[in-house]
Amino acid sequence: MINYFSVLKRRKIPVAMTIAGSDPGGGAGLQSDIKTFAALEVYGYSVLTSVIAQSSSRVARVSPVSPALVSAQIEVLVEEARPVALKTGALASARIVRVVAHAITEFKLPAPVVDPVMIASSGVRLLERSAETALRDRLIPLARIVTPNAPEAAALTGVKIRDRESVREAARKIVAIGARAVLLKGGHLEDRAQATDIFYDGRDFVELTSARSAGGGAHGTGCVLSAAIAAYLARGDALEDAVRKAKKFLTAALSASCKIGRSRALLDQFASRR
Ligand SMILES: Nc1ncnc2c1ncn2[C@@H]1O[C@H](COP(=O)(O)OP(=O)(O)OP(=O)(O)O)[C@@H](O)[C@H]1O
Ligand SMILES: [Mg+2]
Repeated sequence: MINYFSVLKRRKIPVAMTIAGSDPGGGAGLQSDIKTFAALEVYGYSVLTSVIAQSSSRVARVSPVSPALVSAQIEVLVEEARPVALKTGALASARIVRVVAHAITEFKLPAPVVDPVMIASSGVRLLERSAETALRDRLIPLARIVTPNAPEAAALTGVKIRDRESVREAARKIVAIGARAVLLKGGHLEDRAQATDIFYDGRDFVELTSARSAGGGAHGTGCVLSAAIAAYLARGDALEDAVRKAKKFLTAALSASCKIGRSRALLDQFASRR
C-alpha cells in the first residue's frame, strides 16, 4: 500500500494541479483526479470550476463557480508552490476558460493536459456551447496535449470521425490549432475487440491499444487517463512515455473496476498497488 506520508516527509513529492468540475460520487472529475495523483505519488492541488450534482449514472444539476473565484483558487495556491504539471477538465463557461488561460500565462504555469470535456454520457452539457470557441482559441493553443474523445474531436475540428483516416485528419487539425500534441481517444469508436487511442505530436502517429472490457467501459475513464498523463509528466516523464504509461494505468484501473450500490463500474486507481 502507498506510504504517502513517508513520500511527503522525504520532500520529493511533485505537485500537480487539476482545474475541473466536481463529482460527489468520486468516480470522475476533481475527486477522481486527486485519487489518480495520490496513487501515482504526486501531491494534488485541485481548483474547482463547477459544482456538479452527479452520480455515475446521471447528472442532476450543474452550477459554475464564479470566474473570479476560479482565478483566486489558482492564485492562492501558486503563492505557495508552483505545480510541475497541470490538467484541465470540465470548465463550464467561456469566462472560466478565459480566466484559466489567463492564469496559465500570467503565473507561467506548465503547459496543460487539456481534457476538453463537453457533454456527459447522459447528454448534459458540462461546457456551454459558446465556450467551445474560447476552448479552441484560448486554451488549446497553450496545451501540452489535448485528449478529446471522438465526439469532442468532431466538435473541435468539424471532421466526421468514422475511420482511421478521419481520426488522423482530426488529430492534424487539433495540432494545427496550436496544441503540441493530441491523444484522440477511441472509447466511442465502433470496435468491439479493442479500445484504440491515437497519439500525434505533429510528426508521428502512435496507436495505443488495449482489449475492450466487457460491459461498456466505466464512469470516469477519460478523467483517469488525463490525470495520469499529468501525474507522469509531474514525475518527469517525456510526453509520449507519460501517455503510454497513463494508458496502461487506466487499463489496470478499469480491469479492477467495481460497483457500489446501483452504480456503473467505478475505476480503482490503486489496483496495481494492492
Ligand atoms: N470498454 C472499454 N474498454 C477498455 N478501454 C476503454 C473502454 N472504453 C473506453 N476505454 C478507454 O478509456 C479511455 C477514455 O476513452 P473514452 O473515449 O471513453 O473517453 P471519454 O468519453 O472522455 O471518457 P469519459 O466518459 O470518462 O469522459 C481511452 O483510453 C479509451 O481507449
Ligand atoms: Mg471525457
